[in-house]
Amino acid sequence: MGALRLSFGILLLVALSASGKTFPFEAVRLTQADARSFPAIGFGDREAAPPWSSTTPSCRAWPGSHDWPSDPEWKQLNVSLGGALLRPSPAASACYQGDNYNETTCRWLLDESRRTHFWIEEPLSTLTQWPQGSTCPLALNAEGTCTRGGFPEYVVNATTVKHVQAAVNFARNRNIRLVIKNTGHDFGGRSMGAGSLSIWVHNLKDFEFIPEYTVGRYSGMAVRVGAGLESWEHFNHMAANNISVVAPGGGTVGAVGGWISVAGHGSLTSKYGLGADQVLSINVVTADGRFLTVDPNKHKDLWWALRGGGPSTFGVITSVILKAYPPISVTNGGLNFAVNPSLNNTPPSTDPNSLTDLASFWSGVSLAYRYCTNIIAAGGYCFSYIYPLGNNSFRFTSSQLIPNITAPAYRALLQPLYTQLSTLHNIPVTLPTTITSSLYAGNGRRTGSGDFPVNTRYRSRLFPARVWQNDTAWADVFDAIRAGVEEGGYNFHGIAYSPTTEIAGWPGADSAVNPAWRETALHAIFMEVVPVGLSAAQARAADARVQAYVDRWQALMPEAGAYMNEGDPAEPEWQARFYGEKYARLVEVKGRWDPWGVFWASTTVGSEGWEVVTEDGYPMGQNGRLCRVGKGV
Ligand SMILES: Cc1cc2nc3c(=O)[nH]c(=O)nc-3n(C[C@H](O)[C@H](O)[C@H](O)COP(=O)(O)OP(=O)(O)OC[C@H]3O[C@@H](n4cnc5c(N)ncnc54)[C@H](O)[C@@H]3O)c2cc1C
Ligand SMILES: *[C@@H]1O[C@H](CO)[C@@H](O)[C@H](O)[C@H]1NC(C)=O
Ligand SMILES: *[C@@H]1O[C@H](CO)[C@@H](O)[C@H](O)[C@H]1NC(C)=O
Ligand SMILES: *[C@@H]1O[C@H](CO)[C@@H](O)[C@H](O)[C@H]1NC(C)=O
Ligand SMILES: *[C@@H]1O[C@H](CO)[C@@H](O)[C@H](O)[C@H]1NC(C)=O
Ligand SMILES: *[C@@H]1O[C@H](CO)[C@@H](O)[C@H](O)[C@H]1NC(C)=O
Ligand SMILES: *[C@@H]1O[C@H](CO)[C@@H](O)[C@H](O)[C@H]1NC(C)=O
Ligand SMILES: *[C@@H]1O[C@H](CO)[C@@H](O)[C@H](O)[C@H]1NC(C)=O
Repeated sequence: MGALRLSFGILLLVALSASGKTFPFEAVRLTQADARSFPAIGFGDREAAPPWSSTTPSCRAWPGSHDWPSDPEWKQLNVSLGGALLRPSPAASACYQGDNYNETTCRWLLDESRRTHFWIEEPLSTLTQWPQGSTCPLALNAEGTCTRGGFPEYVVNATTVKHVQAAVNFARNRNIRLVIKNTGHDFGGRSMGAGSLSIWVHNLKDFEFIPEYTVGRYSGMAVRVGAGLESWEHFNHMAANNISVVAPGGGTVGAVGGWISVAGHGSLTSKYGLGADQVLSINVVTADGRFLTVDPNKHKDLWWALRGGGPSTFGVITSVILKAYPPISVTNGGLNFAVNPSLNNTPPSTDPNSLTDLASFWSGVSLAYRYCTNIIAAGGYCFSYIYPLGNNSFRFTSSQLIPNITAPAYRALLQPLYTQLSTLHNIPVTLPTTITSSLYAGNGRRTGSGDFPVNTRYRSRLFPARVWQNDTAWADVFDAIRAGVEEGGYNFHGIAYSPTTEIAGWPGADSAVNPAWRETALHAIFMEVVPVGLSAAQARAADARVQAYVDRWQALMPEAGAYMNEGDPAEPEWQARFYGEKYARLVEVKGRWDPWGVFWASTTVGSEGWEVVTEDGYPMGQNGRLCRVGKGV
């Protein structure tokens, strides 16, 4: 009998995975029997959930507080998880006197680690440091003590759906703050939190090519992708299967997590739309601990909300099905020029196209941006930076990528730009040799080396396409960009593309994606590198300084939204900027699916009801207890 049951189970697993409905790891689920033997991991009942009211605790449990689970209870959770519960120390603790001190390790972290995949493999770390509270900065011969700060207390190294379900249920039943971490790329501290239990989805790496997938009006190739897959791994799978899938440009960005949950841009954005536009089906564990398949026919409100309505809000995604396309080639060229590099002691060889006239430089940059209209119309995108180098020296670097175009057609499209730059603006540039290759050529070699925790802070707007159709409007907007770079000293990062409603197609056109994406032609960003360890007052002053330049954009383009994944977590009126008119409906879906507020992260739907109460008061810091607004400890 036992043997029979076992083989039936295996057959069932095979049948499920072959149907393309779930991965084998998703067939391992929490049962009612598991819940009976340890009620703390029992399922929730959304209908019976108490409304957010004064009778429920005003803060999440806190280590050391009376309601924090006892050690034996954490042990029991670990047993239910088959030993997948981790209690990691911050990596930098190797630099501090104490149990973990190891000078060799500390030196390696400071130097060698950036040439490896270490920080992406690390269960606590995120690539943006400031939300952690600088309680354990990486430094040789560090003084003081290393504490956990904004890092989670416990991490579930999830490799099955059961792990995810048990963690969600435990957090909900025991009033523990819950966070979800994938790659830790989030710029706003959304994959960490003090006093939390973290669900780490990084090891859910499964991939499956589905040659024929039909749902609603879609019929064609698809892929099923596990929540932990990184972009570079995704590109390897594309190459192996001779297909193209829309994926993040950043090599170690998660191909599914925060990227799809907010929008997700990449090199095919003007051709096939956003990451969220590719989704055909989503497997998710909701706040009640249940595992659901959500698609155009099932749970329509969640289906709408999970595509673009924000990360860590409605559930833990375990896998998604995405559209796949025939292999596509891309043609790319680079346009770079600089002004006054010698004043900045930069060797001239670094900037062969160097000018001495500031006016020429800025008019050339302005032209290069506006010319992107033509690139977008051909299905391509422009990727660019303007760097202030000091002493009136600036560098513009850019590339213009177009899919499915021959090299001669590419050159014909770009030549007028180069002609105008050299004849009208005295910028000595010539059209470079273009490179045509398959979309995934070279991507397989990206392994994440170079990712190292830094303190970048983005402020951004999705500039409406209309600003390029009107000389005066663009002149005003460009002046505001220039002021931020020239006076403010901020790097500017611009990515031009247009994922319109038409390109989003079916089912992408009807989702919770910020409507500003459908009108945009340029994702425009001021990048600031904030020093580690600023006081709260210093951080506020630095914020106010950049905000003045963003306010100029806001005044010129009041309708512009912003991309939350590459926006400011302290964005004023973030509901309007990050979600637009879709916010009210999203709040309603959130209330229905997560009446407990199990999922919380800065600037996610419904997050305004809670705040992190930190001791240092650092704006948007995650090093403190999560409490209802005004009810803090
Ligand atoms: C070096 C770098 C390059 C980048 N390149 C691009 C780019 O090319 N295109 C682009 O659009 N953006 C890019 N970004 C921004 C990127 O989209 C965001 O950082 C995004 O949040 C990354 O998501 P993640 O899941 O990899 O990271 P994480 O920080 O682990 O997670 C981000 C958010 O998603 C939530 N989340 C993660 N997994 C799940 C899940 N399975 N279910 C529910 N919620 C989940 C987390 O809780 C968190 O709130 C880049 C960022 C960096 C640092
Ligand atoms: C959970 O159990 C595993 C296996 O027994 C053990 O290695 C691990 O240290 C435990 N985790 C915690 C937080 O105690
Ligand atoms: C320090 O770390 C190195 C490298 O991981 C290891 O080889 C060494 O044994 C460690 N030293 C101590 C004292 O633990
Ligand atoms: C997480 O689990 C996987 C699979 O069991 C294992 O290979 C990996 O080492 C674990 N990671 C950590 C940090 O414990
Ligand atoms: C890849 O797919 C394309 C079109 O879908 C086809 O023409 C080509 O022969 C395939 N290449 C390989 C190596 O299978
Ligand atoms: C600016 O020029 C001065 C004088 O030549 C030089 O000392 C200084 O290093 C330069 N600043 C930068 C940022 O290069
Ligand atoms: C690529 O371009 C060719 C020629 O213009 C066209 O026939 C084909 O449909 C295009 N393919 C895609 C995927 O856009
Ligand atoms: C162009 O922009 C300017 C400045 O924003 C505005 O005053 C003007 O009405 C616009 N013209 C058109 C035709 O939209």
